[in-house]
Amino acid sequence: MKVTFKDVALSYDGKVNTLEGLNFEIPDGALVSLLGPSGGGKSTTLNMISGLLAPTAGKIYFDDQDVTKQSALARKVGMVFQNYALYPHLSVLDNIAFPLKMARVKKAERYKRARELATLVHVDDQLDKKPGDLSGGQQQRVAIARALAKSPSLLLLDEPLSNLDARLRIEMREEIRRIQSETGVTTIFVTHDQDEALHISDHIMVLADAHIQQFATPHTLYASPANEFVAKFIGSPVINMIKADTMKADLAGVVPDEILQKAETIGIRSESIVLHDLGRKIVATLHAEIGAAHQFGREATATLNYNGETLLSTELSSMPTGTKTGDFSILATGFFLFDHDGKLIFGGESHDE
Ligand SMILES: Nc1ncnc2c1ncn2[C@@H]1O[C@H](COP(=O)(O)OP(=O)(O)O)[C@@H](O)[C@H]1O
Ligand SMILES: [Mg+2]
Repeated sequence: MKVTFKDVALSYDGKVNTLEGLNFEIPDGALVSLLGPSGGGKSTTLNMISGLLAPTAGKIYFDDQDVTKQSALARKVGMVFQNYALYPHLSVLDNIAFPLKMARVKKAERYKRARELATLVHVDDQLDKKPGDLSGGQQQRVAIARALAKSPSLLLLDEPLSNLDARLRIEMREEIRRIQSETGVTTIFVTHDQDEALHISDHIMVLADAHIQQFATPHTLYASPANEFVAKFIGSPVINMIKADTMKADLAGVVPDEILQKAETIGIRSESIVLHDLGRKIVATLHAEIGAAHQFGREATATLNYNGETLLSTELSSMPTGTKTGDFSILATGFFLFDHDGKLIFGGESHDE
């Protein structure tokens, strides 16, 4: 089911808007992440979709139906939270079947459905266990199966992986992607982890400062961040940000003068600072002094001192040892200019969505 917000705002105290100007469309059958820092309004947005929270202004539509005033119950959404909230005294099978029991579905039918869902989320060999006997990842699988029991119009997940350790988080995010693909249910997934969002989403909505900063595909967010906030929030290592004045001399003739005059900050991704351009499009060549080099697992980083700024590169492992200074190419991809308001004014790919 498609979800549309039109000019939605939300204020908790009737004075300050926690969120405003929310306009978006979540396509039917998509997996969309709400991504942003803590306090950015992700849960608030999710709760307005579920109907637990009514917007202060604006309209919410499920497909073409206005559901702004509809209760959470009537909206028929399935929800999963960070704390699994399973019933500890019920078996896995009874936990999954519970919403169907509440809906007075006949016993044989609800257990058949619960078994199918247990198979879908891969806990079909754990049916008689109690939640306390399961690992965190398995408990979250059960919670997802339970949320899917009544064939919801939407599946909403609020930081479902936050309590899991790093390895399990990666396994479970793949599982959520798989379960979503197999069921085709429109899914909205909240996370503060940009890497998680980049890996599983069809689209990502970046929420911060009461606004949608950008709503786009993972690729577009990375390759064409709409503003400085998105450029810094997406990607690891964090993008290099330097004052535009530092580099203006090296950009003359490459960037049109009127754009260069408005540029306040330059963003350069660490993989876009290279020794050899290998025929790729470059925007500038910088003469810089080489600073510290580090190796982290398969990742090698080196810092460059350039006109008093420090730049991090991940592409300098082939540098001859003992090199003190050098000329480094800046690739056109991963090079961005931002104006005084932080808005992208140069770089990135042409926007296709
Ligand atoms: N029930 C509430 N009453 C008042 N303020 C709230 C309430 N819930 C959240 N907030 C505030 O709204 C902002 C957004 O919160 P939230 O949507 O929970 O962010 P996120 O989920 O992105 O961490 C925060 O500043 C938070 O303190
Ligand atoms: Mg939250």
